[in-house]
Amino acid sequence: MITLNVNGKSLSYDGDEDMPLLWFLRENAELTGTKYGCGIGQCGACTVHIDGEAERSCTIPMAEVGGTNISTIENLSANGGLHFVQRVWIEEDVPQCGYCQSGQIMATITFLEKFPNPTDEDIDKYHTNICRCGSYDNMRKAIHKAAKLQAEGATS
Ligand code: FES
Ligand code: FES
Repeated sequence: MITLNVNGKSLSYDGDEDMPLLWFLRENAELTGTKYGCGIGQCGACTVHIDGEAERSCTIPMAEVGGTNISTIENLSANGGLHFVQRVWIEEDVPQCGYCQSGQIMATITFLEKFPNPTDEDIDKYHTNICRCGSYDNMRKAIHKAAKLQAEGATS
């Protein structure tokens, strides 16, 4: 039996331990904000936070997540408001089809923890989620704006 904490709730699982975490989140926990894109760790649509780190949940088997704390896109608005990264995403009109965006936002939050004042080169090199709609220009503006809000003290 595997137990893990997802968005503040303790959940358990006793199925195939090779099943990717993404399946558990979407099918068992019914948290469908996290998306399936490539399934091979390339696109980042499935990005969630595991113990505070952005991880691609399509490549992480359930065997590796026992005892961890997982946060998904749904957790960002658990208190009823939007996270500041979500707010700038809306202000800068980042989403187009929207499919990749929960992963983009989860990746941005941990990216800004590591690069609080990112350059365009940092974004190009370390913010590696893929967007098939090409929302990169607006996303770059949103990341810089979010960095400014973070520097002013925004935390959620
Ligand atoms: S679906 Fe996980 S990285 Fe693409
Ligand atoms: S907004 Fe469509 S894939 Fe990114």
